[in-house]
Amino acid sequence: MTKADVINTLSKIKYPGYAKSLVDFKIVKSIDVNDEEIKIVLNLATKNEETKKRIFDDIKTSFKGSGLRLMLSTVQDQPQSTAVEQKHMVQKAKKRVAVLSAKGGVGKSTFTVSLAIALKRKGYTVGIFDADIHGPNVPRMLGTLGERASIRENKKIMPILKDGIYSMSLGYIVDQETPVIWKGAMVSKAIVEMLESTEWPDMDYMIVDLPPGTGDAALTIKQNMDVDGAIIVTTPNALAVADAFRTVDFFRQVGIEISGFVENMAYFVCDNCHNKLYPFGNVEPEELEKALGISSLGAIPFMPEIEEATDDGTLSALENKEYFDLISGVANKI
Ligand SMILES: Nc1ncnc2c1ncn2[C@@H]1O[C@H](COP(=O)(O)OP(=O)(O)OP(=O)(O)O)[C@@H](O)[C@H]1O
Ligand SMILES: [Mg+2]
Repeated sequence: MTKADVINTLSKIKYPGYAKSLVDFKIVKSIDVNDEEIKIVLNLATKNEETKKRIFDDIKTSFKGSGLRLMLSTVQDQPQSTAVEQKHMVQKAKKRVAVLSAKGGVGKSTFTVSLAIALKRKGYTVGIFDADIHGPNVPRMLGTLGERASIRENKKIMPILKDGIYSMSLGYIVDQETPVIWKGAMVSKAIVEMLESTEWPDMDYMIVDLPPGTGDAALTIKQNMDVDGAIIVTTPNALAVADAFRTVDFFRQVGIEISGFVENMAYFVCDNCHNKLYPFGNVEPEELEKALGISSLGAIPFMPEIEEATDDGTLSALENKEYFDLISGVANKI
């Protein structure tokens, strides 16, 4: 058996709960093979014991027939030490914050834009990078739908400035009516190109709106900028929370520590009775904290006014004090 055979076998073992393999996840730190033994060192950053055990068991099963002794161990170095080259783009922002979620439609883009507005109102300079290549929603919510980024002579593109917030989105570059099927490598390339060619001003905060899940966009962002904080948005129902847990684990594995979670559409205040209603279930933040292993940054209610404002791009003109106080509360924690 050669090292290549070992890599080949490992590339067929899926990371528990994911379609990608242990090799794709870049957790194989080193491999040594001789006539007697196979020595594999893993760089496992997950804190989930069950995941660890699964990975170990799956590797043992895969090498059972090899006739060689299997030596399996882990190193607890920095999670990103085995990742590919780390770039440091968008250094013009003092802090870079990523907004992510396990599931789609939980309100990441709404939260991203709201957070930018709250920070802007506090007097900070803020930019939004829309890393959602498949469905860039930031322009609609900011009221910049249909705007086109102008290209300078030096090939640099200028972010769009609206109500004091800078933004860059694929929506400013390509015609959104034309559906584009982006494959993994293309997603990365599009994101890197957009990041590289945008002429960002000096900013206090850059907020990155990621597509849902744990795909190529998240990895690309991680590899190309120093992420200072990452916020996971979730709705409080059990299934979303279970998925959120797996997502937290994935991000930890690729070297992004999650700062905390925001419960969005956590409750609804009834117009007539003024009681709080919990359409997704009433889960205590402490329970969620325990389930996810990260801290709660706040709970945002469902407000019809917010939905309307995201639809017609008027969020930044909205006065809703209760809503922006809650968002501002999250901003204070990051
Ligand atoms: N707190 C809220 N109150 C009312 N409506 C909300 C709230 N948060 C989000 N929404 C609405 O929920 C819908 C989905 O939100 P949004 O597009 O921000 O989710 P997303 O997680 O970014 O979705 P995707 O995964 O498709 O990118 C939108 O119509 C938005 O207006
Ligand atoms: Mg979105």
